[in-house]
Parts: sequence; structure tokens; C-alpha cells
Amino acid sequence: MNKPVTITPEDRAVTEPDLGEPLTYSVEAFLSPDYAKDEKERLWPKVWQVAGRVEEIPEVGNFITYEIADDSIIVVRSAPDEIKAFHNVCPHRGRRLVDTPCESNGACGSKRRFVCGFHGWTFDLEGKNVHILDPQDWKGALTEDRTGLSPVKVDQWGGWLFINMDPESIPLREYLEPFASILDAFQLEKMRFKWRQWVIYPSNWKTALEAFMEPYHVSGTHTQLLKYGQFYAYSKSYGLHGVSGFDERDPSLKMSQSSSVTRAGSGSDPRVSTYELVRENYETVNFAASTETLVKAASRLVDELPEGTPPGDVVKHWLAAARADDAARGVEWPTITPENVAEAGLAWHVFPNMSLLQGQTFALCYRARPYGDDPDQCIFESYAIERYPEGEAPKTEWVYAEPTAEKWGAVLAQDFANMQWVQKGMKSRGFRGTLPNPHQEQKITNFHRNLDDYMGRTTLRLLD
Ligand code: FES
Ligand SMILES: [Fe+2]
Repeated sequence: MNKPVTITPEDRAVTEPDLGEPLTYSVEAFLSPDYAKDEKERLWPKVWQVAGRVEEIPEVGNFITYEIADDSIIVVRSAPDEIKAFHNVCPHRGRRLVDTPCESNGACGSKRRFVCGFHGWTFDLEGKNVHILDPQDWKGALTEDRTGLSPVKVDQWGGWLFINMDPESIPLREYLEPFASILDAFQLEKMRFKWRQWVIYPSNWKTALEAFMEPYHVSGTHTQLLKYGQFYAYSKSYGLHGVSGFDERDPSLKMSQSSSVTRAGSGSDPRVSTYELVRENYETVNFAASTETLVKAASRLVDELPEGTPPGDVVKHWLAAARADDAARGVEWPTITPENVAEAGLAWHVFPNMSLLQGQTFALCYRARPYGDDPDQCIFESYAIERYPEGEAPKTEWVYAEPTAEKWGAVLAQDFANMQWVQKGMKSRGFRGTLPNPHQEQKITNFHRNLDDYMGRTTLRLLD
């Protein structure tokens, strides 16, 4: 008989809650229309979530909208050093204020005033109503509170714009901890978009996100990578959030970089295999899981190091060379202690719907959201950010891309090729329930522990 897991408030404060036991969670969260409906009340209006990047609204009047379930939020730069967010709805009779013809990806633009297209009520960048036709007709009942836009909490971390629709929510920084403190030194706010793509995909948003939350699938899905290294992973929960990394068994690799994406390749000559691994990562993960500088520096390892250099020293030399190459072209690397790099691991899940895989000068990020009310569909987005020399970041925009290797690279296409079949497979009468790996997939189990908390359900249980 399965027993429910008791989630206590103390769990929140513990950096390593004991999720190491064999657990299972039900498929309700992925398949049930009622669950999807409840998310609209219990989850999305309560959590901090990424609405965009600060770089999308550099000038006063620049705005984006963020679409989540039935809500649309306007995030606007109201002053050079001030950003505001409002519900995208006119307080007169409820017309959506800014049209969002592209329901999933939202709108963007620049305005000094938001003018409602129905009866012309007008709002300034602070959300204050500055024009109502014939206000005397209301006999004095039109207070500022009634006629202004409804505010939404907005804050920034790491170059991301986060919103929260709950006025009572805890501050963003507190919500993001300890993830924010562990990643602060990576200075993600100094990175800029390299590319950004989205697709409407036939799986639940959680099925899609979870395909990128654990490296346990590398051996079964990305088999072409196996010749370059071992992919035994650990994963760890940090309250709302979680991290995974590689768990190197080779004692010569006991160095800070071994758990991250910048690590040695396995093979008889680590000078060669490290280059092959990073090149493969770069080229098949849509030029996102590394940088051109890192690949070029790795290509010189055979010339710059003697045969027999141990893997740990190869990585050390490689990263120092890449750092110097970047410095020469005006890209400064952040200063991060080896302990910090090790703790930051490979990739994070930020509750509820963001994932990122970080390097010192780049990150590959994912966001997944429901699409309409259908638990079998989602809006899936992925984007790469990178540090560029001042003023040299490319101009990018959201591009709709079918989930093919041609559009997303071979590795992401392999992940796409699983997601829809997981969604279908979970509906099978013959599926006895999930069996997440307690060590390597704990990040996912932790996700469901926290979902249970928000959703007021107990879908996570001990396996016995
Ligand atoms: S609904 Fe906006 S002005 Fe009437
Ligand atoms: Fe993958």
C-alpha cells in the first residue's frame, strides 16, 4: 500500500530534503483536465515566473506581454530605472488592452500611452488613467482605483523579468533562494539573447519541461554522446528548486568543473576527447551548450599540452585559454570560486516552469506553459544567452520552429522525439505508475512535491 509523503514547513528550510527514498507520483498532473483547470487558480496566480528578459525593454515605453493560462500581463519600462507590470485588461468593460494576436508568445512594442481600442480610455506608463470620455456620466463614482490598470508585482534577477500576480507573495529574491545566491556569481544579467525559439508541442507543459530536467536520459536518448564521456548524474533539491550535475567516478577529475558542462571528455587522450565532447555539445545542441571561444580553445589542446596530461589539468588549461581568448575580444569572465562552480552543477529547475543549463559565459534556457485548456498541449520555448563584447549582441526575436533537428539541433530533436510519446504512454492502461530514479531524477520528484503543495493534492507517495 502506498503511503502519502508528509510535507512539513521545515522541508522548505532544508537544503537537502530526504527525497532519496524510492517515490512515485501519479500521472494526474500531466493528463487531467481538472488538474489543468486547478493550475489556473492554485499555481499560476501564486508563483513568480519569467515574463521575459530585461534586454527586451531597454527604452522607456518599451513593453512586452506575458501570456499565462487566461491571463495576460503587460511589463513596461515606465522610467529609465523603473519597470512596472499590469494585468492586460481595460477596467472599463474588460477589453484586453494590448492585442496579443500571437496568443502564446505575446506582444511587444513601444508606447507612451496605452489606449483601449473599444472606447478610448487611456493609461500612462504608470497605469494611471489619463483619459475617459464623458466622465461626468458616472456621477463622481470613477475613483483612481477603479479606473487605473490593475498592478502586478514585477522584479528582476539575473537579467530576467519575473512577475507574480499574488499581491501577498513573498519577495522574488526570497522565492528564488538558494538558487539565486548560488548563481549570483555567474552574472547571468550580463548575458544577451543568442537565439530564441518556440513551438506548440503535443504534450503537457510538465512532460516537456521534465525532458530537460535530468541527465539520466542521456545514455538512452543521446546515445551519440556516450563515446565522449560518462553521464552518471546526481540531482539535488533545494526547497522549491533543484539542480543536477554529473557525478564523476574518475578520481583524477575531482575538480570543480567535473559536474558542470565544461568538463573533460573520456578516452585515452583527454586533450582530444575534451575537444570532441565540447564540439559535439556545441554543434548538436543548437550552438547553445558552449561557446565558439570554448570550442576553439579546446581545438588547440593537442598543440598546447604534452601527451599524457591528466584530464583535470586539461580542463584547467582549456578554461584558462578560453578565458584569455575572451578577454582579448572584450568578453570578461565572471570570477566564480571552484566550490561555487561545483555547487552550481550542470542545470537547474526553477519552480515552476523554468530550466537552465549554465556555463560561465553562456546559458541554455527553457520555459514551458500550458496551451489553452488542453493538458495534452503546451507552449515550449528554448533560448540561448551568452556574454558578448559591449554592443555586439545579435538582434534576435522569437521564432516559431517546428521540432526538428534542422531547426533545433540533433540533441533537442531527440528530446522532442520522447516528449509526445511520454504523454501518450502515461495514458496506457498498462502503465503502473512512475518510477523516478531517487538519485538521478530527484529534481523531478522535488518538482512534484512542490506542485502538490501548491495544488493542495498528494500525488507523491512512497513506493513500498
Ligand atoms: S473596454 Fe476599454 S474603453 Fe471600453
Ligand atoms: Fe536531452
